[in-house]
Amino acid sequence: MARITDELVIRGNHIKNRIVMAPMVTFSFHGDNRSYYGRQHIEHYTKRAKGGTGLIIVQATSVFGALYSTGMWSVDDVAALKQIANNCHKYGATIMMQLHCGNMDINRLSDEEIHSMQMNMKQAAIRASEIGFDGVEYHFAHGFTLCKFLDASYNRRTDGYGGDALNRARILTKILPDIRNNIHKNFIIGVRMGEYLPESRDGIEAARAFEKAGIDLLHISFGMQPPTHPVPEGFIYSPITWSGCKIKKEVNIPVIAVNEIRTEEQVRFLIENNYVDFAAIGRGMLADPEFASHVINSEPVNMCSECKRCFWFTNHTLCPAGSQYSDNQ
Ligand SMILES: Cc1cc2nc3c(=O)[nH]c(=O)nc-3n(C[C@H](O)[C@H](O)[C@H](O)COP(=O)(O)O)c2cc1C
Repeated sequence: MARITDELVIRGNHIKNRIVMAPMVTFSFHGDNRSYYGRQHIEHYTKRAKGGTGLIIVQATSVFGALYSTGMWSVDDVAALKQIANNCHKYGATIMMQLHCGNMDINRLSDEEIHSMQMNMKQAAIRASEIGFDGVEYHFAHGFTLCKFLDASYNRRTDGYGGDALNRARILTKILPDIRNNIHKNFIIGVRMGEYLPESRDGIEAARAFEKAGIDLLHISFGMQPPTHPVPEGFIYSPITWSGCKIKKEVNIPVIAVNEIRTEEQVRFLIENNYVDFAAIGRGMLADPEFASHVINSEPVNMCSECKRCFWFTNHTLCPAGSQYSDNQ
């Protein structure tokens, strides 16, 4: 039986436990000197690393700008990101960065535009490794650009990026060898995606295509829309979490499940029954930066209040559950 505190080694990275901080954009934070990342982000992630989290996935970061050190890759952004990576390592957390490609209509992208996006996708991973991150996660979920490539009903391309699952995953798999050749061998490359694309079999085929291409880690959330399919009796989580458990059975690489995982019992149930390898915590991690150590030590968790208004999308200081831990303004 796997335990929450069992380490899991991916490409030589010893992830010390099975609790992951889900990627979450910190909308009301701002950087210093007009950068995007800054002191607030450093404190935010350092607290969650200090709180015992095994793997931290830093929020969606746009790949655009990686080639010319603009956007979220400015000198000041990179300095803050370096500090985040160093601090997280100091507390024993493994740290990855989620890479985002915006929200474009992929059916209208020209060959040149696709090529340019791929160059930014590659460069962003290289920059992340130079900054000190242990890996990246490409954001193929939640209806954004990369998700649209994967979804068999949205993607109407007739070139090598449309058609079967291998083609739909090609936006990343084509450049993967090139990325690997330019980064040290321990760098983790993961994908966040959904199961229903739009059918379950589409997601399973895409997951297998990524595994076959050499992706190290899958993080299963949802595709174009959250699924509403029923879950088996006795399964105490949402259909999104069940998607993670289903994909886990179809691949031989580690899988992260996410969504509304709030308590020690829920984390244990998933890990100890081998449903998945990791449980990712989103809002629960906002409400309680020490979520991981509380769960590991069977101490009370400061629960997300389920207000459903997630103030973290607008002003995190208004979060009713997070206020007692509120990060510096
Ligand atoms: C404030 C906020 C920001 C988010 N930003 C991202 C993001 O940058 N990338 C992403 O893939 N998901 C993002 N999500 C979704 C979370 O990663 C997670 O999948 C979702 O909150 C469900 O997990 P939870 O019930 O534990 O919160 C965000 C969620 C919240 C609440």
